[in-house]
Amino acid sequence: VPGEFNRYGATFMSATILAFSGSSRTASLNAKLLQHAVAGARQAGASVTVVRLADYELPIYDGDLEEQHGLPPGARAFQDAVAQHDALLIASPEHNGGYTALLKNALDWLSRLLPDGRSGISLVAGKAAAVVSASPGNLGGVRSQTALRIVLEKLGMIVIPQSIALGQAQLQFDEAQGGLKPSLVGAAQGVGAALVNVATRLTV
Ligand SMILES: Cc1cc2nc3c(=O)[nH]c(=O)nc-3n(C[C@H](O)[C@H](O)[C@H](O)COP(=O)(O)O)c2cc1C
Repeated sequence: VPGEFNRYGATFMSATILAFSGSSRTASLNAKLLQHAVAGARQAGASVTVVRLADYELPIYDGDLEEQHGLPPGARAFQDAVAQHDALLIASPEHNGGYTALLKNALDWLSRLLPDGRSGISLVAGKAAAVVSASPGNLGGVRSQTALRIVLEKLGMIVIPQSIALGQAQLQFDEAQGGLKPSLVGAAQGVGAALVNVATRLTV
């Protein structure tokens, strides 16, 4: 419980979570699903920042551009955002069986050198991550999750097992009721809560 003392006498800090989706679409199904996982994380005591990757103005990674100009401001801003949070909550759309180029590009820039000479990987190594996905297809984008997990783990992240792959996702949101069908809300919120649990333990 945030603010309480643990058995070592230290106070539990509420975990901070950076949440984003791999979609730039205004009507993104993944962004909608993400909101429910975010709500679960907040209910579990976390402070959650939701950002849009498309707002960072990240050119496609280019080694020549990096060598001549350094990291673009958008890449530095994304690194800073990640540095300021304990964990990542990612909603991952599936594009041709993988995750999106927008997301991979952001992770590639994230991994590049920091101004102090450390690797950008140091910003995420040892931190927790959770991945959810939504797709109009029956598999709910689960293949994108598998591919993304491999990359996040390569970056040193601890990807929690809890997840949701929301199939036929366009049918699962009841706009009149303002969100996900009630039968699925608990599952989506549970992922956010599970991430807070692990992130809090890692930050004690
Ligand atoms: C280039 C492209 C490839 C896609 N490939 C897949 C796929 O392999 N599997 C799948 O379930 N959906 C696939 N889709 C459909 C997406 O899941 C769907 O567009 C979804 O709504 C994207 O997520 P968003 O709503 O968060 O933007 C693809 C869509 C695009 C544009």
